[in-house]
Amino acid sequence: MDDAPFSTIIEPFRIHSVEPLTLTTRQERREYLRTASYNLFQLRAEHVLIDLLTDSGTGAMSRDQWAAIQHGDESYAGSPSYFVFVDAVRELFPFEHIIPVHQGRAAERILFAALGGPGKVVPNNTHFDTTRANVEATGARAVDLVIPEGRDPMNEHPFKGNMDLAALDALLAEHAADVPCVMMTITNNSGGGQPVSLENLRGVREVCDRYSKPLFLDACRFAENAWFIREREAGQGDRDVADIVRDLAALADGMTMSAKKDPMGNIGGWLAMRDDGLAQQCRTQVILTEGFPTYGGLAGRDLEALAQGLREVVDHDYLRYRIRSTAYLGDALLQRGIPVLRPIGGHAVYLDARGLAPHLDPLEYPGQALAVALYEVGGIRACEIGTVMFGRQPDGSELPASMDLVRLAIPRRTYTQSHIDYVIEVCERVAQDAASLRGYRITAEPPALRHFTAEFAPIG
Ligand code: F0G
Repeated sequence: MDDAPFSTIIEPFRIHSVEPLTLTTRQERREYLRTASYNLFQLRAEHVLIDLLTDSGTGAMSRDQWAAIQHGDESYAGSPSYFVFVDAVRELFPFEHIIPVHQGRAAERILFAALGGPGKVVPNNTHFDTTRANVEATGARAVDLVIPEGRDPMNEHPFKGNMDLAALDALLAEHAADVPCVMMTITNNSGGGQPVSLENLRGVREVCDRYSKPLFLDACRFAENAWFIREREAGQGDRDVADIVRDLAALADGMTMSAKKDPMGNIGGWLAMRDDGLAQQCRTQVILTEGFPTYGGLAGRDLEALAQGLREVVDHDYLRYRIRSTAYLGDALLQRGIPVLRPIGGHAVYLDARGLAPHLDPLEYPGQALAVALYEVGGIRACEIGTVMFGRQPDGSELPASMDLVRLAIPRRTYTQSHIDYVIEVCERVAQDAASLRGYRITAEPPALRHFTAEFAPIG
């Protein structure tokens, strides 16, 4: 048969078990919004039709992952499932110490309990919100040093997650003694799911070596990042993604990981490093809050499912489908004139709410207004990544975030193309009416991580 490619994006799986979706009316959704104080995190999930709040822990596990669950050994210490897990992690990330934890933020808390503290400064391309919160909770300062192109929603740079090497060098020249480690988030979630190039990571390594600083990866979406390297970086196009991942790992001294993303888990994470002393400190912390270090707050069956997920996520057919299907949504929105952060990221499409609703001041939360409208009009749940999430300053004042985005995160292997076609239609309907979007004000908020629980009221 002729091997010419077809343009239809084929999901490289078929459906084996289905979950019902509930259809609601617009009138019902208006009521649910009022009850939730216009905070989409406060909705009941069964009132959501297409849930694009996150790609974290919301993916579908495979037949082989469910089968692996039957192999779970629930021994408190030294379970065979732990060794299956460690072998699978080490196949891609050959670090000496691999410590399971219940999810990514536990890895962050434990790492920064050891490395953070008042007066410390942690550079990252862009801290994810929990990473920033865990750095700041120790009294340290979290500094984002992504390249300037990474802050411009319309710039087409192929690696918008890259670190600004000159800025990193300048920070270390001034504060070397206060910097316990350098972090790199791959892909850069808060900056639009944008990848980091191998070349840039090599540059970061070089700067770290010059100042003798360890480099840690926040590697939640490592396989998507490696696929972008294969597609976009010179000389990488013929390589196996697993080899590219091993190259990324070889440049680092350790990693924090949420296994709810690329490892295809519904729960889980790990912390890994080369340094024996640091590992000992971290294991002590793990025992305090997670559990014995061979299970880290997970069941043995979870460790087995993650080991299998790690084998599946570096499959080229899967990654081609994953990245192309996210781009399918993004490209369709662009074709309809809807402002979307470019290039399209790996796990999500980010709508530029400021671009869509320029009549709203950033302090009227255009991202929140857009996210609420997507739910009211079509039952779609998305996530504001803008002034609600990042606008509150440590002194309690409020500033506009650098961008006001609404993230449509795509759970792995969960929605079909017709679900996404529906999302496109809803976005188009909301965009046509964008001039009528009303802003929001916050009526109650906690002192930190306010986006999860803040209460809102429409303005006017
Ligand atoms: N780092 C990054 C880059 C993340 O995207 C996340 C989670 C974490 C760390 C924390 O991991 O949730 O397992 O504790 N991101 C999810 C999201 C919540 O929706 O983007 P976790």
